[in-house]
Amino acid sequence: MISTGTQLRADAGSTGRLVDGRRVARTVREEVAAGTARFHAETGRRPGLATVLIGDDPASEVYVRNKRKSCVAAGMLDLHRHLPAEATQAEAEALVDSLAADPAVDGILVQLPLPAHLDAGRLVARIPAEKDVDGLTTVNAGLLAQGRPGLRPCTPAGVIRLLDEYEVDLRGAEAVVVGRSDLVGRPMAQLLLGRDATVTIAHSRTADLAAVCRRADVLVVAAGVPGLVGADAIRPGATVIDVGIHRDGNGLRGDVDFDAAVGIAGLITPVPGGVGPMTIAMLLSNTLAAARGRAGRDVG
Ligand code: GUN
Repeated sequence: MISTGTQLRADAGSTGRLVDGRRVARTVREEVAAGTARFHAETGRRPGLATVLIGDDPASEVYVRNKRKSCVAAGMLDLHRHLPAEATQAEAEALVDSLAADPAVDGILVQLPLPAHLDAGRLVARIPAEKDVDGLTTVNAGLLAQGRPGLRPCTPAGVIRLLDEYEVDLRGAEAVVVGRSDLVGRPMAQLLLGRDATVTIAHSRTADLAAVCRRADVLVVAAGVPGLVGADAIRPGATVIDVGIHRDGNGLRGDVDFDAAVGIAGLITPVPGGVGPMTIAMLLSNTLAAARGRAGRDVG
């Protein structure tokens, strides 16, 4: 829970509506499967996704397995590659270079974090921007910062899709993003700015985080700290999007103290079943967009 501040209370008995991320993710996956079938009919080939796993981090293994399964279920080619934890930077770079040169590969995703001896920045920099389905390269981050078309990081793109599905009005809204990571916080803020929200980025050094969060009509929390955002940080009726996911003795929980927040927020994502399912759905969407772009087709 973050600092003190005035405790805001919801109207008696009010409860936030829940965002059903599983339902929206299913819709996106169905759209992508239909688009993939069209792409196959038009070009005679299937979009190919190369997930790259280096080492044997158990959480990363689970994430990558789920990405591969979803890719096959959408009708795409699973071009997964695995390197042992002892792989050198040169070996990892040679693998990315070979995927970059392979015409069957439309998307490259290097699962993070990497073993500590490897330099993720240098590795990601070798992914061609048009195959960067994580939206992590400097080129795609720059295109996003300039509001120009490009591949967007999956989780923030998924949050925007959720906000659209639930018809949350972003134009002129006060949006607060908690967290400034390359994968979520920064691109999230840019996407909200691109939708004409008034955006504040808060982070671990922000003074009186609760007061800043209470300004938000739309609060997106991606801090990586379990239960960081409590009742004192939520404006009554706000839309609260929790990107955090943590396993503790009682199962999964997010960065938001859900039990405290649900009676104050107007709309809120649960954990699990909120933002989580969107990340893979948007990865598939990016892979299809990359394939269409590489085939000289409208990216849509
Ligand atoms: N590790 C945790 N989430 C992600 C993600 O979205 N992309 C990559 N590459 N690694 C991750």
